[in-house]
Amino acid sequence: MGILTNLRGSRAGLTQEALPVSNGVSTVNKKKWSNLMPLFVGLVVIAEIGFLGRLDLAKNASLVDSWTDLFYRTTPVHEVVPGVDSLTSLRFGDRSSELDSCEDWLEREDAVEYSRDFAKEPVLVSGAEQEWQSCSVGCHFGSESNKKPDAAFGLAQQTGTASVLRSMESAQYYAENNIAQARRRGYSVVMTTSLSSDVPVGYFSWAEYDIMAPVKPKTENALAAAFISNCGARNFRLQALEALEKSNIKIDSYGGCHRNRDGRVEKVEALKQYKFSLAFENSNEEDYVTEKYFQSLVAGSVPVVIGAPNIQDFAPAPGSLLHIKELSDVDSVAKRMKYLAENPEAYNQTLRWKYEGPSDSFKALVDMAAVHSSCRLCIHLATQIREKEEISPGFKKRPCKCTRGSETVHHLYVRERGRFDMESIFLRSGSLTLEGLESAVLAKFNSLKHVPIWKQERPESIRGGDELKVYRIYPVGMTQRQALYNFKFQGVADLRSHVESNPCAKFEVVFV
Ligand SMILES: *[C@@H]1O[C@H](CO)[C@@H](O)[C@H](O)[C@H]1NC(C)=O
Ligand SMILES: *[C@@H]1O[C@H](CO)[C@@H](O)[C@H](O)[C@H]1NC(C)=O
Repeated sequence: MGILTNLRGSRAGLTQEALPVSNGVSTVNKKKWSNLMPLFVGLVVIAEIGFLGRLDLAKNASLVDSWTDLFYRTTPVHEVVPGVDSLTSLRFGDRSSELDSCEDWLEREDAVEYSRDFAKEPVLVSGAEQEWQSCSVGCHFGSESNKKPDAAFGLAQQTGTASVLRSMESAQYYAENNIAQARRRGYSVVMTTSLSSDVPVGYFSWAEYDIMAPVKPKTENALAAAFISNCGARNFRLQALEALEKSNIKIDSYGGCHRNRDGRVEKVEALKQYKFSLAFENSNEEDYVTEKYFQSLVAGSVPVVIGAPNIQDFAPAPGSLLHIKELSDVDSVAKRMKYLAENPEAYNQTLRWKYEGPSDSFKALVDMAAVHSSCRLCIHLATQIREKEEISPGFKKRPCKCTRGSETVHHLYVRERGRFDMESIFLRSGSLTLEGLESAVLAKFNSLKHVPIWKQERPESIRGGDELKVYRIYPVGMTQRQALYNFKFQGVADLRSHVESNPCAKFEVVFV
């Protein structure tokens, strides 16, 4: 089987929002004030003397603000020494203005130029032709005769080119898709259905499935429908099917396995008429969740799942699916199916998400696919290229924090998942908390009137208003499995130690 040809590309979510293409950390205008510097420094000194005389009388905070602000903006950088209380801040003693200027200083000092501008020199990936509308980083698929690609599908022939493995098949059938095994074989970027892979390629996306399609009346006599093309599998799905039938669950089977209905029907339309749908995968592997499951959700037919042991991570709401983890569960699942079938209100509860919208956790998962996997690959590669460069001396010299008296201002960077560009945020030591981080992120993106990347992609009924809501903030470089399910800063100390040991730490935010 060709790993490369097996992408089932159109399923990986082909639409995406148009994005401005630019690159890198946003920089402030370094030159803005420097030309006027000598004049300003002179003025400030005069103003300062005059001002100090009136300080006791005035005590007008906004006046103090504006003067200190002016002072710092016009002072040559080397005069504001981090870690040392400047004379000015002692005199003026206005905390907020001191810190504002600390931020300006950091914004200037930390904004080191990267050598590669991805707008002019896009990430180049060879071994697959693919073009799409836009990506938040310059990204080109195909071959460019005289340029060495940054990455190639398959095992790369030349050093300096990353080898990319991309497949949507289960590692239980194709062992080479196992992440550890792929790494051993020399793949540095793995793209599989596993959310632990570098760039996950899932079967799900808002574009591919009309997940919020309305629920239809359940008109069929049989309790469940099955579309299983063949009975063979590396799990117990055949035995489970037989055991369900033995428990007097009436099943209409449209596929090759135990067929008792004519299979020439439109699958999702047919499923809509059944209370339950047997979403039986051919292997039970983490994150391996295929169209069988997502089509059941579209149809509003409660999925009875054999497959990913962590299928609950893919549930649109708690209690919205039934899971046969092992063969011995069949009895209790059969009982539950009968109970729900006989109790319309309880049954309707399992589909409540269809009326009220899915959970944040489900939205955050499916939103990932709002950005095409090829674009996510380019973002991944470009991020690695940047990180390599950040080891160089110029970057090591960035201060990344500014200390005045007992307070330190940390310079952090944050971007939305699915985008490349970073925004600056600043956290004072006093607000270096999880809440502080979240509110700094919100303040930043609100001030930018940021529109989440999934906005156009999600069904309108669940897009929400204009208000940004943070679902997760995590260090750049984490897998989606860590980011969405496993990772959490263990309190303030953990966050603090992360920020302190990662100067100019970079985060990613998922909005819901
Ligand atoms: C401080 O000065 C500003 C204008 O510079 C003025 O609007 C404000 O009312 C003053 N506040 C006090 C407490 O005097
Ligand atoms: C199921 O519940 C929704 C609201 O939660 C309601 O609009 C719908 O009519 C109910 N359907 C049935 C069949 O009771």
